[in-house]
Amino acid sequence: MKKPKIVGRKPIAVELTKGEEKYFCACGESKSPQFCDGSHRTTPFKPLAFTP
Ligand code: FES
Repeated sequence: MKKPKIVGRKPIAVELTKGEEKYFCACGESKSPQFCDGSHRTTPFKPLAFTP
């Protein structure tokens, strides 16, 4: 089973807009590590949708 790439182990502060749907990167391949940029297409992973 393939494992996601770990890009860091420390919390990252981000600004979010209440009610705006976001997609958390679950594969670790995104150029913007905390959010999905579509790079997961070559992996078995899917982004995790959330709404703050
Ligand atoms: S780029 Fe990592 S889940 Fe989409």
